[in-house]
Amino acid sequence: MITGKYPSLRLRRSRKNDWSRRLIEENNLTSNDFILPIFLMNGKNKRQSIKSMPDVYRYTLDKLSFVIDKAIKNNLPMVALFPYTQNNKKNSLGTEALNEDNLVCKAIHLIKKKYKNEIGIMCDVALDPYTSHGHDGLLKSGYILNDETIEILINQSLLQAQIGCDVLAPSDMMDGRIGKIRRALDKNGYKMTQILSYAVKYASSFYGPFRDAVGSKGLLKGNKKNYQMDFKNSDEALREVALDIKEGADMVMVKPGLPYLDIISSIKQNFRIPVMAYQVSGEYSLLANGIKKGLVSKEIIIESLVAFKRAGANAIVSYYSDRINDILK
Ligand code: PBG
Repeated sequence: MITGKYPSLRLRRSRKNDWSRRLIEENNLTSNDFILPIFLMNGKNKRQSIKSMPDVYRYTLDKLSFVIDKAIKNNLPMVALFPYTQNNKKNSLGTEALNEDNLVCKAIHLIKKKYKNEIGIMCDVALDPYTSHGHDGLLKSGYILNDETIEILINQSLLQAQIGCDVLAPSDMMDGRIGKIRRALDKNGYKMTQILSYAVKYASSFYGPFRDAVGSKGLLKGNKKNYQMDFKNSDEALREVALDIKEGADMVMVKPGLPYLDIISSIKQNFRIPVMAYQVSGEYSLLANGIKKGLVSKEIIIESLVAFKRAGANAIVSYYSDRINDILK
C-alpha cells in the first residue's frame, strides 16, 4: 500500500531530472501496440483525402503496397481493411459482402501473396459498407434482424478466412455471432483464424468521419441504438465480454476509445484477456483538426495514446499508426 509522509517523502524528488523521470516510467508505447486502419477504394493510381480526417486517405489497390511497405517498416503487427463501396454495388441485403472479388477480398489476396505472414490482416465482419441503408445487418421495419444477419456474417467470415484474413473482427453487435462464427470456422478448416470481437461497441457520435470515409454517411437511416450499446452503461459491457469469451473470442475490442477508458480498465481487471482499443475517427478528427488549427500542441497525440496503455489496452487501432515512429521519437 501507499506509505510515507512529508517531509521525509517528497515525490517531486524523482521528478526533478529527466533521467529519473525516465527511470520510474510505468507505461510506454512501441510500434507493436498499433494497428493501422486502411481505407480501400476502386480505381487506378489514386489516393483520395478524407475531408474531416487530415492526413488520412483512401487508396486504390495498386497503391496498397506503398501503405503496407511503410507499415512493415514501422514494425506494425497488423492492418485493418475497410472498403469504400460504390453506391451501385450496395443493396438492402449487403450482398457485395459475399462477393469474392470485392475490395476487401482483393486486398487480402494481394497482401498475403506479397507479404505472407510479415504482417497480420484484420477485417471487419459486418454489412454496413455494403448495405443501401448503412446498417450493419438486415433491416426490417426499422429493426436490425439478429439471427438472419448472423447467417450472412458466417458466410462473410468464411470467405474472408478462406482468402487469408488472419483476424476476423465482428463489429456488428448481433447477439451470439461469435459462437456461430467460431463453429463455422472450425468446421471448415479455419481453426487458426483468430476472432477479435468488437464485444463492446457503443452507439456513438464519434464514428461520424468513418462513415464519411467508407461512404455510408448519407445513406444511414436512423441510428444504431437497437444493436450498439448505450453509452450510459458499463455493467453491460462486462456481460458482453463474458459472453464473447465463452463463445470463443481470442481478443476483445472496446470502441470508441478515449471516452471509454473506464471500460477498458474494468474489462482488463475482470477478465485478464487481450483488450484492444479503437481510437475512432471522431477522436482522431478532433485531435488532428485541433492541432492543425493551433489550438493544442501535437504532444496531445502521445498523451492520448499512452492513456490507453495506462487503462490496460494491449494495442490500439489508430489512424496515427502509419506515422507512429515519428510520433514516438
Ligand atoms: C462498422 C464500423 C464502424 C467503425 C468501424 N467499423 C462504424 C459504425 O459502426 O457505424 C467506426 C470506426 C471509426 O469511427 O473510426 N461496423
